[in-house]
Amino acid sequence: MGHQIESILRENRSFPPSAAFRARARISDPAEYERLYRESLEQPEVFWGRVARELPWLKPFERVLDWSAKPFAKWFVGGRTNASYVCLDQHLTTHRRDKFALVWEGEPGEVVRYTYAELHAAVCRYANVLKARGVKKGERVALYMPMIPELVIAVLACARIGAVHSVIFGGFSAQSIRDRVEDGGCTAVITADGGWRRGKVLPLKPVVDEALAGLAGVHTVFVVRRGGNLIEWKDGRDVWLDELAAQASPECPPEPMDSEDTLFLLYTSGSTGKPKGIRHTTGGYLVGAYLSARFVFDLRDDDLYWCTADVGWVTGHSYVIYGPLANGASVLLYEGAPNTPHPGRFWELVAKHKVSVLYTAPTAIRSFMRWGDEHVTRFDRSSLRLLGTVGEPINPEAWMWYREVVGESRCPIVDTWWQTETGSIQITPLPGITAAKPGSATRPFFGVDAAVVDEHGNEVGVNQGGYLVLRKPWPAMLRGIHGDDARYVETYWSKFGGRYYFTGDGARKDQDGCFWIMGRVDDVLNVAGHRLSTMEIESALVSHAAVVEAAVVGRPDEISGEALCAFVTIGPGHSASPALAELLKEHVAKEIGKLARPAEVRFAEALPKTRSGKIMRRLLRDIAAGREVRQDTSTLEDFSVLARLRGDEE
Ligand code: PRX
Repeated sequence: MGHQIESILRENRSFPPSAAFRARARISDPAEYERLYRESLEQPEVFWGRVARELPWLKPFERVLDWSAKPFAKWFVGGRTNASYVCLDQHLTTHRRDKFALVWEGEPGEVVRYTYAELHAAVCRYANVLKARGVKKGERVALYMPMIPELVIAVLACARIGAVHSVIFGGFSAQSIRDRVEDGGCTAVITADGGWRRGKVLPLKPVVDEALAGLAGVHTVFVVRRGGNLIEWKDGRDVWLDELAAQASPECPPEPMDSEDTLFLLYTSGSTGKPKGIRHTTGGYLVGAYLSARFVFDLRDDDLYWCTADVGWVTGHSYVIYGPLANGASVLLYEGAPNTPHPGRFWELVAKHKVSVLYTAPTAIRSFMRWGDEHVTRFDRSSLRLLGTVGEPINPEAWMWYREVVGESRCPIVDTWWQTETGSIQITPLPGITAAKPGSATRPFFGVDAAVVDEHGNEVGVNQGGYLVLRKPWPAMLRGIHGDDARYVETYWSKFGGRYYFTGDGARKDQDGCFWIMGRVDDVLNVAGHRLSTMEIESALVSHAAVVEAAVVGRPDEISGEALCAFVTIGPGHSASPALAELLKEHVAKEIGKLARPAEVRFAEALPKTRSGKIMRRLLRDIAAGREVRQDTSTLEDFSVLARLRGDEE
C-alpha cells in the first residue's frame, strides 16, 4: 500500500462519567473493570466461558475456543443453541414476557408494539410459513424490506428454523440484489410491496422482480403488505407472508444449531472484486453481541433503547436485533427518514417514546447540526441518559454538539469502533468507567487486543500513526467469506503474515491508551457511514458506453464525511457535458444503488498515471478536495500536465 499515515488531529478535552451516571451503571468501579479486562486478555477462555453461560444453551458447549486451524476460529465448540431462542424464549418465563420487545413507529406516524410473548408468537408463525414452503436449515434467504417489525420478525424466523439470512439494504439496486442472491445461492426472498420513505411509498417488490428476472434457483418470494402500492404477481413463486402467517401456528420449536452453524451472511465492500458475503455463526456472534450491548449501552430493564441504523447494515443486526433482544431490552424501531415530515422528527420520537439510550451515526449528527438546534431543543430530551455513535470517525465539533445540545451535557457518549467483520463493538468507552475524549473511540472492549503497527507488524510509538490490527480472536469475529476461504485469508490475515487480523483502518494510540481511528487505508470509502469500494463504482462507470476509464476518490464532505468524486475519460463520439455527468451519476445509482451516486463527475483527457501505469490517486484526491485549481466541468481537464508539474510518483 506504501502510503504514509499521518496523524495530525490533537484533542485534549476529556469527559469522565458523572457521579449520577456512575451510581447506576453496570460497571463503574475502575478496579473491577481492570480485573475483568485483564482476565479477558490473560484468560480469555475463563472470561468468555463465563459470559457464554449467561445465555441459554440447548446443549452445553465442551470447549470455549479452538484456534488450531487459525485463522478459522471455532468458539463454544460442541454447544447448541438458537439465536431466536436466546432473543425470545429465555424471556418468556420471566417478568419480561409482557415487557415490550419492540416499539415501532411508521413514517406516517402509526405505532405498533410487541411484547416478548407477542414477538415470540409472531416469529413462530413466520417460521412455520417458511417451513411449510420448504425452507430448510442451512438454506439462504435474502431479505429486502423496509424498517418495519416484520423485518425483525423475518430475521428471527430464519434463525428459528436454521435458515441463513442475508439482509440486503433497501437502498440497493436490482443489480446489487441479483449479485447477492446469486453469490449467496439464496433460494427464497422475503420482501414487502413497498415502504414509506420521505413521504412517499418506495416500491420494493418491483425491484426484487427485476433482480430475479431470468434467475433460476429462487423458489419463493414472500411478500409482506406495507406500502399498498400496486405490484405484479408471479403465481407459484409469490406468496403473501402476512396472510399465511395469520393462519399459521404460534408455536415452532427452535432448531438446535451448532455454535458454528452459520447464522447470517452480510455483504460488504472490499477494495477488490465484488462485495463479499461476510459469514457469522451462531454461538460466538450471540455472545459478542450480547455482552457488548449489555456493557456499552449499559442496558437496564427500564430503558427504551433506539439504534437508528437500518437492519440492512451490521449495526442493525447486532444492535437493533440480536444484542438488545438477547438482553431483554425494549427496542424502538422507526421506519422513515430523520427529516420527514420535519427536521425534528428524531427528537419528536425521543420525546414521545421516552428514549433513554440513543445510538446513531456521525453523518446524521452533522445533518442535525446543520438543520439547526431549534429542531432538537423544542422537544423534551430529559429521558436520554446515554448517547452512542458508530460508522465513521466523528469530528470533535460534532461530538461536542451531540454532547451539549442533544445530551444537555448530561449523557456520556460512547463512540464505538467496529466493522461488519468484527460482528460486535471492539473499541469503545464504557459509559460508567471511561473518560471520553471527543473524536476517540478510546479503549479496547473486553477480550480485544488492539494495536497500532507499522508495515512490518511492529507496534509503533505513542501518538504515531499506523495500521490498526487485532491480535487475538474474539467470539463474534467473522468465520469467513461465503464461498471464498482464500479471499478471507488474503484480505484479513496475509498483510502481517497470518499473525494479526488487519482491519484496513489507520489509527494512533495516545499516551492514555486511547485509540484515534483515522479512516481506511485501502481503496474503501466511507460515505455517510456506508462502506463503498472505489473499484466497484469504477466498474459501474466503465459499464456505461460513453466511459473508457474511470477513477473514483473520496473528498472531504461536511455532512457525509466523504463524498464520491469520479474522474472519467470518455470515448470518441461522446462529449463532456453537465448532462452526461448527470447521466453517469444516474447510471451508478442504477447499477449499485443511490448510496453510491457520485457527488461529482469530472471529465479528463486522460487519467494521470505513474510510469508503471498506476492511476495517481493521491493527485486525484488532492484535485477532488480542491487543493488543485478546478476548471470548468464541461471541458476536458488535462491532469497529466498537472502530474508532470507536481512530479508525482506514487
Ligand atoms: O473505517 C471504520 C469505520 O467503518 C468501517 C467499518 O464499516 P462497516 O463494516 O460498514 O461497519 C460500520 C458499522 C460498524 C471501519 O473499518 N468505522 C466504524 N466505526 C467507527 C469507524 N471509524 C471511526 N470511528 C468509529 N467509531
